[in-house]
Amino acid sequence: MNDLFDKIYRDKGPLAKWASVAEGYFVFPKLEGPISNRMKFKGKDVITWSINDYLGLANHPEVRKVDAEAAATYGSAYPMGARMMSGHTDLHEQLEQELAAFVNKEAAYLLNFGYQGCVSTIDALVAKDDVIVYDVDAHACIIDGVRLHHGKRFTYKHNDLESIEKNLQRATKLAEQTGGGILLISEGVFGMRGEQGRLKEIVALKEKYKFRLFVDDAHGFGTLGKTGAGAGEEQGVQDQIDVYFATFAKSLASTGAFIAADKEIMDYLKYNLRSQMFAKSLQMQLVVGALKRLDMLRSMPELKNKLWENVNNLQDGLRSRGFDLGTTQSCVTPVYLKGSIPEAMALVKDLRENYGIFCSIVVYPVIPKGLILLRLIPTATHTIDDINETLDAFSAIRDRLEGGVYKRLSAGVEAAMNA
Ligand SMILES: Cc1ncc(COP(=O)(O)O)c(C=O)c1O
Repeated sequence: MNDLFDKIYRDKGPLAKWASVAEGYFVFPKLEGPISNRMKFKGKDVITWSINDYLGLANHPEVRKVDAEAAATYGSAYPMGARMMSGHTDLHEQLEQELAAFVNKEAAYLLNFGYQGCVSTIDALVAKDDVIVYDVDAHACIIDGVRLHHGKRFTYKHNDLESIEKNLQRATKLAEQTGGGILLISEGVFGMRGEQGRLKEIVALKEKYKFRLFVDDAHGFGTLGKTGAGAGEEQGVQDQIDVYFATFAKSLASTGAFIAADKEIMDYLKYNLRSQMFAKSLQMQLVVGALKRLDMLRSMPELKNKLWENVNNLQDGLRSRGFDLGTTQSCVTPVYLKGSIPEAMALVKDLRENYGIFCSIVVYPVIPKGLILLRLIPTATHTIDDINETLDAFSAIRDRLEGGVYKRLSAGVEAAMNA
């Protein structure tokens, strides 16, 4: 018999194996200073393109004021206990009613964290006889929710209608045998590459197949649609989304999340969501803060307009300089370059140290080998100077990449990794 820890001593996992060269810089970096378009990294000013503060609410003075007042009034403990037991308040209910109205659903329910809430929602929606059909590129919280399911599940190729339909056919056959139903899960916006889920086409399939649709709209909420109600509103199919999910961690720049659906479904979920039934209620500071943020989302369309002005300037600028942005249809701005992982590391180091640009970097195995994905998240707080500086920096680093500069700089890292 082995010691349980033996495998951990042997192998730290696919990401941790990079820790000795990556930690503190590429992973677990420390961005310092007030959350904004420019922050400090290792003591230097950088333009920050890696924070999902889409509407610029994180450090907005009105938001900071309400957050501080709520902290002074309620502290961080109130209310104590789970919603069902002793943690229920008028303000939790008010926020749920306002969120439901905003996303055009009959009712909503608060979640402490998007991740756990999403896992739990999937868990509560399906029983053993049901079948789940979901996108292969779904966020980890969807995958973990599916992992709890005791019945069958089918993945479809990312955003591929033919594959969606094929898997709906398989699921239908199976559900007819088991007597269960089908839950189809998509994201509203896929956060890595920025494509919108094909909600309009998926909803059209409801005419041929019987299924319910669950949409994780973490990146769509607040950024897409006429009012900011998300990808369903953008595509004109919000009423056909059976269960809608969004987090406060992006546009609302806070912590917490919610789901929304018809009242009868929400009445069921609030009594069956294990992540909320067995956890302390969302703390009041966050509830009051979310009410304020939602109010600003509704009453200040200029925030979303400014966000999109920045998105368009950045994406148009990059495209006009010949950069490959893949198939993004949202604020998420991926820039694809060709190179090895050590080259990617040298390039990002150059971007941060010498050009003052801080963006996220994604490499294999998240994307195919040989590709480097630099992911930029524009916000309403970015300025035209930020954008122009970034465009010039990107042109410069592409020249250096193609000229072999990063290959030379990374030779030591490459040798160490292959040793
Ligand atoms: C698509 C998606 N779903 C769910 C979550 C989890 O939300 P939270 O950060 O509130 O746990 C995230 C990340 O924040 C996400 O990007």
